[in-house]
Formats: sequence, structure tokens, C-alpha cells
Amino acid sequence: MSVAHIQDSKFTESFGSYSKMLARLNKLSVDKHFDAYLDVSWEDPEFQIEPGDPRLIESSVDPFTQSEWFENLSTEAKAQYCLYRYSSCLKTGWHFENLLQRGLLAIAFREKNGSETFRYVHHEIIEESQHTLMFQEYVNRSGLPVRGMAWRYRFVAELIIERVAKANPVLFFVFVLGGEEPADHLQKSLLKAGLKHPLLERIMRIHVTEEARHLSFARHYLESHVPKASRGQRMIVSLVAPFVLGIMARIMIFPASDLRKHTKMGFLEYRRLARSPQSRAMLRDCLQRTRKLFCELGLMGPAAEVLWKIHGIWGD
Ligand SMILES: [Fe+2]
Ligand SMILES: [Fe+2]
Repeated sequence: MSVAHIQDSKFTESFGSYSKMLARLNKLSVDKHFDAYLDVSWEDPEFQIEPGDPRLIESSVDPFTQSEWFENLSTEAKAQYCLYRYSSCLKTGWHFENLLQRGLLAIAFREKNGSETFRYVHHEIIEESQHTLMFQEYVNRSGLPVRGMAWRYRFVAELIIERVAKANPVLFFVFVLGGEEPADHLQKSLLKAGLKHPLLERIMRIHVTEEARHLSFARHYLESHVPKASRGQRMIVSLVAPFVLGIMARIMIFPASDLRKHTKMGFLEYRRLARSPQSRAMLRDCLQRTRKLFCELGLMGPAAEVLWKIHGIWGD
């Protein structure tokens, strides 16, 4: 049997499972989906957000809260830090989702009649719209002037995201994993540690449930489309990915710089905490599954491995 034939049958097999996976995800999106206003009890007295509420304090997941700096804050200041941190994360989250939706729309625009990809892409866009509504509602209720993603990243991303999605959908889905994997890792860790505020708990549980489908779609998309890409395209993806993933992971899991100003944390303190062993470990852990996928897809050559290490996202 020729190598080409082996590759062909491998591709048919992976495309067959891609099609089955899409059918499953399409069904799940119909069977279990959430509405930002029907499924969150925004007016429940227990769900209200108060700036000094000690139920907001979390100090076992965020590396910044596992520090002497945080320990020395008063209970009220700790709660205020955590409230700003959650609001900031959720605003960054919807900035990312907005970019993701634009890329998905560009991909859907080119799909043919009967495409299963078209249908699932739209289920995901609808779900991301609900998440965006839910996140912004939380931000509005916190009353905090959170910025979300830094202006420079928003500017560049808005310029290129649709172009990347059209020209190199595989690279676009690397960007998708770069945003969704770290957010999912952070939210699952917070849920496992036990969130005391019921509103946050509800928002994160809804989000983690629907993101499991989005992550499955992005991974299967790469599994089915990377083998089809040319050697040159695969080389570009393997070398650009560590750069995209390293930036996206930092955007999604580290506090934004406006939080530093709001909590009057010094720049050197911020830098020290961002480089602490806990922060470095979280950076590595949040992309563990993506790293494994890249190895399986043959996107982890020696040069790529060096770049993953340079970006601080390599490790077991
Ligand atoms: Fe989402
Ligand atoms: Fe998502």
C-alpha cells in the first residue's frame, strides 16, 4: 500500500469521525443550551454583587491571591480585588468571544449547502452571544470600569482575525484553542475549589458546560484538517502557534494591567507575581491538552518545541 493511500485512508477515517462528531455536537446544542436571562437568577437576593462581600474572596486558584501581597490586604480589599478580577476576566472573555464569532462567521460564509460545519458554527456563535450577554451583565452589575483585553491586542486582532479565518482556518482554530483552553482551565479550577458566590458559580457552570462542546469542535477541526494541509502550511502553523498560544494564555489567565492600577499594586510586584512558580505552573498547565494534540498531529518539531519553551508554555 502506498504512503499516499495510507494518508488518504487516514484522512477519510478522520473526516468520518469529524462528521459524526459534528452530528453529535449539533444534537447536544439543541438538547442542552442556556439563555443569559432565563437561566440565571439575576434578581435573586443571594445573587447580588456587593463590593466588600467576603463570598467573593478566592485564594487557592489565582496565583496572585496566593501571595504575601494578597495576604496583607484587609478582608474588604481582598473582596474588592476578587470582584475586579472576575469582572475583568469576564470582559476579556467576551472580547475574545466577539473575535471568535467574527472568524466563525467568515468560515460559515464560505460553506456549501448541506454543510454540517455551517450548522455547528452557527450553534457556537449563538452560544457565544449568550455568554457575551451573561458576562457583560455581570460587569454592568459590578459597576467597575474594567477594560478587558488590552487596546493593542484588540486593535491587531480586529484587523486580522477575519483574514486569518479565511486564509488559514487551521491557524484560526489554534487562536480559538489559545483563548478557550486557558479560560476553561481557570474556570474548572475555580469550580473545583468551590466558588462561594452563587452568581459566579452559576455563570461559570453554564460556561464550562457549553465550552466543552466548543473545545471538542476546535480539536476535531484540527484533527481532520491538519492532515489535509500542505507541508508548508503545517510548518507555518507549528511555528506561529507557540506565539499565538503564549500571548492568548497570558491574556486569559493573568490579571489585566488596569486591575493593577485599580488595586494600586506596584508594577514590580505585578511582574514578580506574574513570574512566580504558581503563575508559571498555571501557564504550562492550561495548555497541556493543546500541547498533547500538537504532538499527535505532528506539529511539534524540534524548532516548535524550542518556541513553546521560550513562550513558557512547555512542560508536563
Ligand atoms: Fe464562551
Ligand atoms: Fe466558546
